[in-house]
Amino acid sequence: MAHWLVVGASRGIGLEAARQLTARGERVTASVRDAKGLAALEAAAPRAATLQFDTRDEAAIRAAANQISDPIDRLIANAAAYGPKRQSSLDMDFDGALDLLSTNTLGPLRVVQAFLPLVRRGRAPRIVMMTSILGSMAIEGTFNVAYRVSKVGLNKIARCLAADLKKENVIVVAMSPGWVRTDMGGPDAPLDVADSVAGVIETTETLKLADTGRYLDYRGADIPW
Ligand SMILES: NC(=O)c1ccc[n+]([C@@H]2O[C@H](COP(=O)([O-])OP(=O)(O)OC[C@H]3O[C@@H](n4cnc5c(N)ncnc54)[C@H](OP(=O)(O)O)[C@@H]3O)[C@@H](O)[C@H]2O)c1
Repeated sequence: MAHWLVVGASRGIGLEAARQLTARGERVTASVRDAKGLAALEAAAPRAATLQFDTRDEAAIRAAANQISDPIDRLIANAAAYGPKRQSSLDMDFDGALDLLSTNTLGPLRVVQAFLPLVRRGRAPRIVMMTSILGSMAIEGTFNVAYRVSKVGLNKIARCLAADLKKENVIVVAMSPGWVRTDMGGPDAPLDVADSVAGVIETTETLKLADTGRYLDYRGADIPW
């Protein structure tokens, strides 16, 4: 049994991860940011321990980390948003874009830095930065520029973390869950959330130190940077 920290578990992929992991007997601590999210999490994964913070709020994240003393074996930095309505290269909502970068790019790093002392004490510890194929420079398309940029930046952060933590045997990857039917992915997405999450869990469990710094999808296949 491993101890998993799932960040952003009020709905979508994070909620399903908390549900599947508790159902298979793993120890789960999961975070939400409000009472509505807490109610959803408690209904889907009643055995999960819960934390409450917004990933834009460093003090709140650190206060939550101080509530835990046991080692964390797997950290899934999953929370993210899609960003403002206007986010093309020709018409950008700059305040909305900055807010998105705080959530999607710096938020996961705030979480990792706050919980790192616990992760360092974990068994074969792994950190999954939940990214997107839209963070790949190799993928064409110009819609949702702020979201793309936020995930490009997150990918770079994952690479830097991987390099900095390799000597401590902490594995860090940037992982895409695929295009998934959630609030973010929308109803036309081809992947069911349960299948995506099963892949994320399986791939996380099979990671070796040699995999650190990879950009991969939920099935473990490489994505071009
Ligand atoms: N679905 C897809 O097709 C897809 C594709 C590629 C990548 N991804 C990535 O997969 C991850 C999960 O996506 P999803 O589809 O599950 O999205 P979702 O259904 O929109 O859920 C997003 C989760 O992140 C939380 N969150 C958002 N902003 C937050 C903040 N500032 N602080 C704390 N929590 C925050 C939400 O909490 P609230 O309920 O409180 O808002 C919710 O729990 C994200 O990193 C996303 O970028 C998804």
